[in-house]
Amino acid sequence: MTMTGPEPLRVAVVGAGEWGKNHVRMFAQLKGARLVMVCDLEEPRLADVRAAHPDVRVTTRYEDVVRDPAVEGVVIASFAAQHYDQARRALEAGKHVLVEKPMTLAPGEAEALVRVARQSGRCLMVGHLLLYHPAVVKMKHLVTSGDVGEPFYLYSQRLNLGRVRNDENALWSFGPHDVAVAVHLFDAEPEVVTAKGEAYLQPGIVDVVFVTLHFPQRKMAHIHLSWLDPHKTRRTTLVGSRKMVVFDDMEPNDKIRIYDKGVDVRPQAVSYEDYLHVRFGDILIPHFGTTEPLRLECQHFLDCVRTGATPLSDGAHGLRVVRILAAAQKSLELDGAPVTVKG
Ligand SMILES: NC(=O)c1ccc[n+]([C@@H]2O[C@H](COP(=O)([O-])OP(=O)(O)OC[C@H]3O[C@@H](n4cnc5c(N)ncnc54)[C@H](O)[C@@H]3O)[C@@H](O)[C@H]2O)c1
Repeated sequence: MTMTGPEPLRVAVVGAGEWGKNHVRMFAQLKGARLVMVCDLEEPRLADVRAAHPDVRVTTRYEDVVRDPAVEGVVIASFAAQHYDQARRALEAGKHVLVEKPMTLAPGEAEALVRVARQSGRCLMVGHLLLYHPAVVKMKHLVTSGDVGEPFYLYSQRLNLGRVRNDENALWSFGPHDVAVAVHLFDAEPEVVTAKGEAYLQPGIVDVVFVTLHFPQRKMAHIHLSWLDPHKTRRTTLVGSRKMVVFDDMEPNDKIRIYDKGVDVRPQAVSYEDYLHVRFGDILIPHFGTTEPLRLECQHFLDCVRTGATPLSDGAHGLRVVRILAAAQKSLELDGAPVTVKG
């Protein structure tokens, strides 16, 4: 008797640009998927796809994707302003959707997508890549296992001197990553957001942003985003009551360092020196998997479609992130005034 596995999911990728071409590569490789169509507005992008994958249909028209019954899953990596309309049309046509970050540019749009996905019974997942990064998986484990103690605060930097976008500002371009990680690690939503930034290169499009998320129980996340910086930095530092953890994604190997450092409060101490005891313990560099995060993300999408499980970065998680970004955008426009995150 020959055993056959489940049929591969027939996938279309929309947007084969700098990032979308990675989705094309991944869905062409993964066993649980069959890449059947690629859609992009630009002919040269499609010519590259045709050369690498001659069996895959290419098109410049999005209607071809939503109308083709052979397409079961749609991966959207087009411009951010297109995400809502394209994701909605795909879900309404009964397709499963993996939409790149930012999920949408307005909370009302993200709410609508969550609703349509629920009504259609289709999978809606957002490309919050870092949630699938083995280092973030490790950090989350360190939090849930109690190793870091009570997580107090985190700060992260996503800095670059590189691509300056004109379709998104630095907040909406880089921010979804760090906001998604903060919400994931604290397992909470911030109540208030403040953000300050400046547009140095293009009028009205901020290049540099400093965002602070204020969570319940005085937890805090501070996020520095910029595409106008001498350093290429991708670093998150989490400070807990027992340990401190640093995730540096620019490190080729030792991406996580766990510092057994902290200040122990000893209420029974007789002297002030003993009351606050500073601990300088060892530094541990844990070993964990090195699988490409995008592979893990795409595999998770396929698994969720197959089993009906809820993705880690489902529509509800994406909506939370969009609400926070919208509050940060409002604070930016109010010159850093605190803005309540509307749930
Ligand atoms: N998850 C991540 O780590 C990550 C990294 C980079 C970019 N992204 C996101 O991926 C998306 C794409 O980013 P990019 O850097 O590849 O941009 P890009 O400008 O290089 O590519 C976008 C592509 O989409 C195509 N496109 C736009 N509108 C379309 C439409 N209506 N129909 C078909 N094709 C259309 C464009 O022709 C272009 O080729 C953005 O939302 C970006 O924020 C995510």
